[in-house]
Amino acid sequence: MADRLQKIMARAGIASRRKAEELILQGRVAVDGRVVTELGIKVDPETQTITFDGRPVTSEKKIYLLLNKPTGYVTTLSDPQGRPIVTDLLPDISQRVFPVGRLDFDTSGALILTNDGRLGHFILHPRFEVNKTYAATVAGRPDSRQLRQLEKGILIDGHRTWPAKVRILERKAAETTLELIIHEGKKRQVRKMLAAIGYPVKKLERTAYGELTLNGLQRGKYRRLTERDLKKIFSGKIPF
Ligand code: URA
Repeated sequence: MADRLQKIMARAGIASRRKAEELILQGRVAVDGRVVTELGIKVDPETQTITFDGRPVTSEKKIYLLLNKPTGYVTTLSDPQGRPIVTDLLPDISQRVFPVGRLDFDTSGALILTNDGRLGHFILHPRFEVNKTYAATVAGRPDSRQLRQLEKGILIDGHRTWPAKVRILERKAAETTLELIIHEGKKRQVRKMLAAIGYPVKKLERTAYGELTLNGLQRGKYRRLTERDLKKIFSGKIPF
């Protein structure tokens, strides 16, 4: 897809957009071998070759973010209904990132965003069994027999869920907060699992991917993930 040259350079991690404009004006950037000194031309990095000081401007620098998503945001990259989108919460990030898995509009909590497709693949593929932990509040008091159903696997949309780990985090007179650990990521899976045992979800938060927790990250804020954080997702060894 064609984009402005300075934007492509910023996404590739070469410089901020403004600094990239200076580099273009200085005659240090070429497209298909011809130096470009005017600003605003559009270039398609997939079919055209961009160089900076003679070196190719290629793949984007990889970036890994953890966002504490508030409710009231969609995790798609555009929304036909015009609702707020999660990338609105990343004003300082120039690279194009995508969310790893989805969180519903009315779910909050941990959301990883990256431009590295490998991370998405390894987190989402059930074969790699990355646990996702949720805190779900339901009205009433599910009993241990009902919770055991979730642990054994439950039929939703004709598919039996993998066994979940379930424990009670808090019991109040009229509601219960449960912790559910699952490694699948089907659409609205936790809501459907709890509805299937007769307890529709009132409030849902994702609290962790693997061992990576929000750990004090405020709602609406994000931080960059380190290699140590990435290891926590995969219990010690990054698979790529
Ligand atoms: N399960 C759900 O039902 N909703 C989410 O947002 C995430 C998991």
